[in-house]
Amino acid sequence: MPIQPTKNIWHNGQMVPWDQAQIHVMSHVVHYGSSVFEGLRCYVPGIFRLQDHMQRLLDSAKIYRMVLPYSLEELCSAVVDLVEANGVAPCYIRPIAFRGYGEIGVNPLRSPMEIYIANFPWGKYVPGNDGADVCVSSWARLAPNTMPSLAKAGANYMNSQLIRMEAEINGYSEGIALDVNGYLSEGSGENLFIVRGGIVYTTPLANSVLNGITRSSVLAIAKSLGITIVEQPLPREMLYIADEAFFTGTAAEVTHLRSVDRILVGDGSMGPITKAIYDEFFSIVNGKKPDTYGWLTPVKVAAAEPVGV
Ligand SMILES: Cc1ncc(COP(=O)(O)O)c(C=O)c1O
Repeated sequence: MPIQPTKNIWHNGQMVPWDQAQIHVMSHVVHYGSSVFEGLRCYVPGIFRLQDHMQRLLDSAKIYRMVLPYSLEELCSAVVDLVEANGVAPCYIRPIAFRGYGEIGVNPLRSPMEIYIANFPWGKYVPGNDGADVCVSSWARLAPNTMPSLAKAGANYMNSQLIRMEAEINGYSEGIALDVNGYLSEGSGENLFIVRGGIVYTTPLANSVLNGITRSSVLAIAKSLGITIVEQPLPREMLYIADEAFFTGTAAEVTHLRSVDRILVGDGSMGPITKAIYDEFFSIVNGKKPDTYGWLTPVKVAAAEPVGV
């Protein structure tokens, strides 16, 4: 889906017109992938887990020794200011911090940090209205001692691109990667959940997954619904014998898997546990149920249509 431009982009503390948010081709990030970023959704009642996302941005930056000259509070205010200035909600929000124009050479420390925040309308991410048909990728996720998976770094997404391209070229909506030891890891841009025998399983952080904010929200929702949760390394074949399986992510929200490698998951439809979690998630983010977790930061934008229901 082409990006729909909005009016302003936040850059290093100022609003700049969308078309003027440009960088030099010799910026460090262009050559060496030196960026960290976030993806958030703003629903009609507000921005979902704003502080958690901006804290993860700061954490990703810290892992890569990037010094961002803004506090958590300042970054959160910048996001709210931008969404309100552009007057677009629901929307997707993309903060990004990267090494800019300074020196050529791998060492990034003498290239200045640049921070931008953009927002724009964005709908469904994983295709398939009746569930996604996915595959297990031939590409493995990043080995733990190569690229840190807890950092949401631009360079990690070269691996995600291989997974996603392979899947789409072979007629699937998305690919699931194993880790370097052959255990299930995650989708190219989603965390993975499997339901079997009434228990919800998800892969732990040590299996090269991003510490997803939707993942943690779904774990909280499952707990509140009295569902047993198990975080443990999972073999690939758990997918083939699962009663239900689903992805979580800011982009994917809660997307149920209809099939994996052309093997139906359950009977292919959204199963009852996924449905209970899905309904609870969308009731909260769309303001139909009280936000008892304090997940939503209100923004002053004339409300459009709720999404995802
Ligand atoms: C590789 C990867 N895993 C998982 C997720 C889900 O994370 P979150 O729920 O914080 O969006 C994402 C999305 O950002 C991702 O890119």
